[in-house]
Amino acid sequence: MQAARFQPQLQIFVCANERGADSSLGTGCGARGRAVFEQLKRDTARRGLAVSVWVTETKCLGVCPREGCALALSHGGGVFEGVTCEDARGLLDRIEGKTPR
Ligand code: FES
Repeated sequence: MQAARFQPQLQIFVCANERGADSSLGTGCGARGRAVFEQLKRDTARRGLAVSVWVTETKCLGVCPREGCALALSHGGGVFEGVTCEDARGLLDRIEGKTPR
């Protein structure tokens, strides 16, 4: 095993997992997560961050919020729940240093 030649400065994992309506864990992040994922993909490209900030759609991250979606940041950046598209915009602002952390 060896380190990959290309590595991001930050990788954002966005849950878009879907479960059936009868699941005791809820229906999952599903469409809410997919909306956040698609917005982050568009905005990282538009802001010229796509090479350094990778956005990856995932299955369940284990926190299963009832609203918004779950999102995890690489390099020990933490796991977040209840993430909305507006939160995603703010996250990219923070990454670019436009707002304080
Ligand atoms: S379904 Fe998204 S964190 Fe579990």
